[in-house]
Amino acid sequence: MRRLSDLRASSDRTAGTGRRWIVALTVLVGLMAACSSPPPETATGPELYSQLCSSCHGAGLEGDVGPPLGVGSPSAALPDSYLATSIRRGIGTMPSFDHLSEDQVGRLITFLRDVQAGP
Ligand code: HEC
Repeated sequence: MRRLSDLRASSDRTAGTGRRWIVALTVLVGLMAACSSPPPETATGPELYSQLCSSCHGAGLEGDVGPPLGVGSPSAALPDSYLATSIRRGIGTMPSFDHLSEDQVGRLITFLRDVQAGP
């Protein structure tokens, strides 16, 4: 006959395993999102940004691992061609996004310009 304290101890162990699984799954889902197949051709600029860029440049373009891209950022003063090349070829530690179509890169830049123009 198991005592209540034994039961509690075993359910604590189960909870620990559950948490580890959740952490493992979260990491896996994050990796899958980062490496997933190309976004749909029709994805909008904001959709492309949040799927591909926000993890490093912040949800609001405020910057994180990567530099800020929003209002008053260095990018706001750089030409479209520089942004397009950075996105296509990558720059420094930023990976390249050469699988994006010209339209998709254009939509991303339009989105960045919209945000840079301010509210
Ligand atoms: C893995 C993280 C990461 C991801 C994902 C990422 N970037 Fe970057 N990005 C960086 C880093 C780091 C730099 C700075 C590179 C350097 O100058 O060494 C950078 C630089 C840039 C620059 C140049 C900014 C400047 O001031 O020179 C632009 C523009 C840019 N990223 C746009 C994007 C866009 C658009 C996306 C999504 C398609 C994206 N980045 C995805 C990390 C990332």
